[in-house]
Amino acid sequence: MFQRILLATDGSPNSLRAAQKAKDLALLIPNASITVIHVLPLTPELTIELQKELESQEFTFEEALREKARPVFKRTLNSLGEAGLNVLTRLETGHPAERIAEAANSGDYDLVVIGSRGLGDWQEILLGSVSEKVCHSVHIPVLIIK
Ligand SMILES: Nc1ncnc2c1ncn2[C@@H]1O[C@H](COP(=O)(O)OP(=O)(O)OP(=O)(O)O)[C@@H](O)[C@H]1O
Ligand SMILES: [Mg+2]
Repeated sequence: MFQRILLATDGSPNSLRAAQKAKDLALLIPNASITVIHVLPLTPELTIELQKELESQEFTFEEALREKARPVFKRTLNSLGEAGLNVLTRLETGHPAERIAEAANSGDYDLVVIGSRGLGDWQEILLGSVSEKVCHSVHIPVLIIK
């Protein structure tokens, strides 16, 4: 039923809890896969940073993006552990909620797992702007982890 799980992560403690729950769920489902999606918002600051790395010719643009996202993927994959699950990563750029919703609505996934809050400061509010927008705009089930 929920064989193809899309797990959204920003590396926050909340999204790492979401990773653990996604793993627990996937372990109950034969042939389940988890795709870990992280969206890098291309802010002016990040664009300048990436530009500098490109100018130093150390990286291609793709590699610089990968490098930037690496700690988030690493932390999230650690939370998924070595359970022998089929785990994929998906790096996108742009508006996080829009990119996650686009992926979720692509027909490639059966369930979105997402944290209620992320790295933002207003922890007393139930949902962050990304989780709220994703809930509103996806056409598949969403599991929100507090
Ligand atoms: N850039 C991102 N890429 C992938 N998933 C994300 C991203 N940002 C947030 N998420 C997912 O959404 C969940 C909720 O984060 P959200 O950003 O909505 O809350 P917040 O950071 O507390 O609030 P806000 O960003 O509105 O200040 C996270 O736990 C994570 O699962
Ligand atoms: Mg956030």
